[in-house]
Amino acid sequence: MEMFESLTTAYRDYIEQYMDESCFHHDTEPQKQLFSAMRYSLLAGGKRLRPVFVFDFCRMCSGNWKDAVTFAAAVEMIHTYSLIHDDLPCMDNDDFRRGRPTNHKVYGEAMAVLAGDALLTAAFAELAKAPFDAATRIRAVDVLSNCAGQIGMVGGQVLDIMSEERQCTEQEVIDIQTRKTGALIRAACILGVIAGGGSSQQIEAAAAFATNLGLAFQIRDDMLDVIGNAQELGKAISTDAGKNTFVRLYGLEKCEDLVKCYTQSAIDALDVFADSSYMMQLARSLTDRTV
Ligand code: IPE
Ligand code: IPE
Ligand code: MG
Ligand code: MG
Ligand code: MG
Repeated sequence: MEMFESLTTAYRDYIEQYMDESCFHHDTEPQKQLFSAMRYSLLAGGKRLRPVFVFDFCRMCSGNWKDAVTFAAAVEMIHTYSLIHDDLPCMDNDDFRRGRPTNHKVYGEAMAVLAGDALLTAAFAELAKAPFDAATRIRAVDVLSNCAGQIGMVGGQVLDIMSEERQCTEQEVIDIQTRKTGALIRAACILGVIAGGGSSQQIEAAAAFATNLGLAFQIRDDMLDVIGNAQELGKAISTDAGKNTFVRLYGLEKCEDLVKCYTQSAIDALDVFADSSYMMQLARSLTDRTV
């Protein structure tokens, strides 16, 4: 197998196995329905892109990437909680996610809200038990809380819903997307550098990579909302037509160029890493992704 595929498989298998084995097996607890709802969405087979970022940035900084698994799980838990809440009737009101009915369709809205809350909380427990010294773990908490919270992903989701009734400028759309999607990708890349013991220059490079890649990723997501295949995507399409997206601003063709352009800027930020060929290939492969 080619190096790119074998490393991708190794990263994905490792995070899947870790999350399956270590997360939320409490069938004897009276609130076991909650554990079941958490596992339902977490183990539903997403692309696991954010864990892959954590692992590979750790590897690029000459760290042992497996040591970063709790950081990777933390980001994936927050990402999964963001999807559960994003799909709620009070937000995007979606019925399908990761190829199955959304969490609230199966467990009800109250349990879906609580499963999201519990995943968010559990993420910080994962950071606390990482195999690094206390100062390193606290840096990780600082990064993840900033990227996930009111100035990061949650803030972006707020801007996204607040702007639904009007037409945003390009700068406003960039601002929404760098927060709602870019921030967690940024957390993943930076946590990888922290786990690998990277320098502050490498942290800055990881952040620049993630900011650009996050924009490319969300523009592609918005394109797939128009041109994608629901079956393949595992979620419904044409649900974000009223949203402020680059597709609405510029149309599909220009968006294809923008995805390439932001991806190239992301790749340009990688020169401070000695062995970035995997990450370059991953970034390029996302430009024409269909899932
Ligand atoms: C979907 O993220 C939500 C966005 C931020 C665009 P992904 O496309 O990474 O979803 P999964 O994790 O593969 O399900
Ligand atoms: C979601 O953006 C970003 C999140 C923080 C969850 P979207 O609303 O476009 O994501 P999908 O298309 O539902 O996956
Ligand atoms: Mg949304
Ligand atoms: Mg949505
Ligand atoms: Mg979308």
